[in-house]
Amino acid sequence: MNTTIRKPIIAGNWKMNNTVKDSEILIKNLIPLTNNKNCDIIICVPFTNLETAINLTKDTDIKVGAQNCHFENSGAFTGEISPVMLSEMGVEYVIIGHSERRQYFLETDDTINKKIKSAISHDLKVILCIGESLEEREKEITENIVSKQLKLALSNIQEIDLKNIVIAYEPIWAIGTGKTATSKQANNVCKFIRSTILKLYSEVSADNILIQYGGSMNSANASELISEKDIDGGLIGGASLKVSDFSIIINAASTPM
Ligand code: 13P
Repeated sequence: MNTTIRKPIIAGNWKMNNTVKDSEILIKNLIPLTNNKNCDIIICVPFTNLETAINLTKDTDIKVGAQNCHFENSGAFTGEISPVMLSEMGVEYVIIGHSERRQYFLETDDTINKKIKSAISHDLKVILCIGESLEEREKEITENIVSKQLKLALSNIQEIDLKNIVIAYEPIWAIGTGKTATSKQANNVCKFIRSTILKLYSEVSADNILIQYGGSMNSANASELISEKDIDGGLIGGASLKVSDFSIIINAASTPM
């Protein structure tokens, strides 16, 4: 983690967990543990919990994100939520391209690209997820996969907009499996992602872009992962649902290395 340039970002992805009542309890318990930390803290909650999360985190150091959005502003898209709806209610971040959305909801690199453009145009910050499957890692094509996902997701996105994009490297084989990438494996891919940004844009952008790791990050392994030079924090699933674990991860990112 290069703290001189980049402020780490710890984001919880609650996925389809927590009712409004559950989220109230979790957020109220989390708030006192997040004051004056040297990292950005985000919770990405289900759509139904956004309003509660926004109200409870007003005047705190916690920012609120959604887990998906459509690329159109409005229209006949039953069950979808638009960036303009999120932005108007005070949502700051949106996760786009999570592997679960790619896998279960058939999201493509093209729709991901459209979603990113639309989200940015409505002043949302994007957490763009990319990562390889186990089969792709075993075939040693991780870099090809990750660079293809990155190039297509960022297609026709201007360099000036990169300040509103965080990249989350999430190897699919490490998500929810308890199988974490080693800190070296994770850092190597994050470093590769940074070098791809250098090729696509510039050295300044490569130095400044935030790249998180996600995939079974927990209170025991966060410190080692986040201390790697090219890993600027984490996107955390399971461990973000437990206040004690999430706050340990926040502290790990907040400690000057
Ligand atoms: P887990 O931390 O549960 O492995 O989930 C990671 C993830 O998918 C975050 O977006």
